[in-house]
Amino acid sequence: MMVYVHLIFLSTFVSVSMTSETFEAMEGEALVIKCPRWSSSVKVTWYHMDTSKIIPAEEEGSRIFSSKRFLWFLPTSREDSGNYTCVIHFSNNRTKSFDMSVHVHPYKEGICFPSQIRYPNDTGRGKIVCPTIDNYKNATIIQWYKDCKPLQGERYFKAEKYIFINNPRKEDDGYYTCQFIYTHKGNMFNVSATRIFISKEKPSPLPPQILFPKDKDVIEVELGATLSLKCQARLGIKKQPIAVVTWDVDNVPVKYLDFSRFHEKTNSFEGREQEYYRETTLHITEIKKEDLQANFTCVAVNEMHNTKATVTLQLKAPYGKIYDAYVIYPRNHTNEANFVEYFVYQIMPDILENKCGYKLCIHGRDIYPGEDTATAIEKRMQKSRRLIILLTHQLINCKESAYDQHIALYNALIQNDTKVILLEMETIGNYEKLQESLRFIVKQQGTIKWKEQHTVHPQSLNSKFWKQVRYHMPLTLKSSYSANAG
Ligand SMILES: *[C@@H]1O[C@H](CO)[C@@H](O)[C@H](O)[C@H]1NC(C)=O
Ligand SMILES: *[C@@H]1O[C@H](CO)[C@@H](O)[C@H](O)[C@H]1NC(C)=O
Ligand SMILES: *[C@@H]1O[C@H](CO)[C@@H](O)[C@H](O)[C@H]1NC(C)=O
Ligand SMILES: *[C@@H]1O[C@H](CO)[C@@H](O)[C@H](O)[C@H]1NC(C)=O
Ligand SMILES: *[C@@H]1O[C@H](CO)[C@@H](O)[C@H](O)[C@H]1NC(C)=O
Ligand SMILES: *[C@@H]1O[C@H](CO)[C@@H](O)[C@H](O)[C@H]1NC(C)=O
Repeated sequence: MMVYVHLIFLSTFVSVSMTSETFEAMEGEALVIKCPRWSSSVKVTWYHMDTSKIIPAEEEGSRIFSSKRFLWFLPTSREDSGNYTCVIHFSNNRTKSFDMSVHVHPYKEGICFPSQIRYPNDTGRGKIVCPTIDNYKNATIIQWYKDCKPLQGERYFKAEKYIFINNPRKEDDGYYTCQFIYTHKGNMFNVSATRIFISKEKPSPLPPQILFPKDKDVIEVELGATLSLKCQARLGIKKQPIAVVTWDVDNVPVKYLDFSRFHEKTNSFEGREQEYYRETTLHITEIKKEDLQANFTCVAVNEMHNTKATVTLQLKAPYGKIYDAYVIYPRNHTNEANFVEYFVYQIMPDILENKCGYKLCIHGRDIYPGEDTATAIEKRMQKSRRLIILLTHQLINCKESAYDQHIALYNALIQNDTKVILLEMETIGNYEKLQESLRFIVKQQGTIKWKEQHTVHPQSLNSKFWKQVRYHMPLTLKSSYSANAG
């Protein structure tokens, strides 16, 4: 049994060592096949395997002939299909042989290349070399085809033996055929050779950009509490070969710190245009006094550059939160009344403030034009327990409201201390146009959807919509009372 297995193994081994290649050719074209291994000091003999006849060198009028490393068919004929061997004779009388099989495909109108492709795929950046052309001295490419259609256009640069596609894309994938003319002793022959091209978009780095935190940010903490510092950076288009986002504490990478209070966790994701993001969260299990003196630096590195953002910690000012929710909505700059404003100024305060006893902070009502807007918004948000965001098409498309939305989300996400409530006032669809962090929240907790039918009884405290909103609001004496009572 063992011997039997051994013999099979041996014979397999021997045949594998004699590389076998297949050549697909069109009828009536020139074909040159090449012995895979060769050096100028060895003699090569070619055989037709089926007849065991040696194929001689060229004579007057011969159609098939050998010449050192090469076997010529000028031109091919259907009956040439079959197996051929090249035998290499080394100087110590040892030989080595290689089998090659040739398939000649009958010429058919409208078929420009055989279905089996014999040449290796070109997977790359846009250069497609005409296969086998080097076997033919004095050959001239007359036409390139893609999927059998003549190739034209400014995106193709044609050189002697290859074409170059400018910025290859997915649509450029396909079968590329070069057709060339070979002249032998005054006779001209057509040759065509095809290979598959698969584009490979290059991952390109962008200057690394830390989206949050902002440099020099001061984060409020409580001693003994836990803290998660999240750093998010964009590093380029597609997965990057060098992509690092880490935290240093006083210039020492967290992984080299020997206290177990610090832990780092990293994940990466691709954005809408295949932008490559990496996000690293530094978890501090227990804030100590010395942390208030430390510099926490997020470092983002790709093959192009590196960038940093440093934040420090300070003790939380001893105020309580004074608002239950800060409301973000698209602001109207026309004089026309719109439903969202009616909702924000009338319906919402009536339900949440008058009926449930919450205190809201509404821009335009509680923040006045003239106050330093940025500071005022930030302060009010810090004093709010919840962040209510009204999702409408205007909010998504408006650049201006992006500002308070941005800092609000920033605080909510980085400090993890404000809960976000998303009210979908208009059907947003697939959320694709939302900014990354909003989509993240939608994915995590969904939205509360305002339905057209609510407009009939918008003030109904017991509607599903308001019940859901109140469920996400902090508890107040009155709200818990009325929730129980209602
Ligand atoms: C060529 O050799 C293969 C095995 O290597 C065989 O299957 C095939 O039938 C041969 N072709 C011809 C035309 O003899
Ligand atoms: C090779 O074979 C030839 C004749 O068959 C012989 O004369 C010669 O000595 C051999 N060379 C070696 C290196 O064995
Ligand atoms: C070449 O590409 C084709 C089409 O994508 C694929 O089927 C084939 O396996 C590839 N061949 C090699 C050798 O990669
Ligand atoms: C090479 O090709 C050109 C035309 O393409 C022809 O004029 C010339 O004679 C050829 N040279 C040889 C050595 O065949
Ligand atoms: C080469 O092919 C073209 C069409 O593709 C044909 O018009 C021409 O006659 C062919 N030339 C030879 C020498 O077979
Ligand atoms: C933190 O950074 C500031 C500003 O770069 C620097 O003045 C200070 O010495 C740093 N603190 C420590 C502990 O490295």
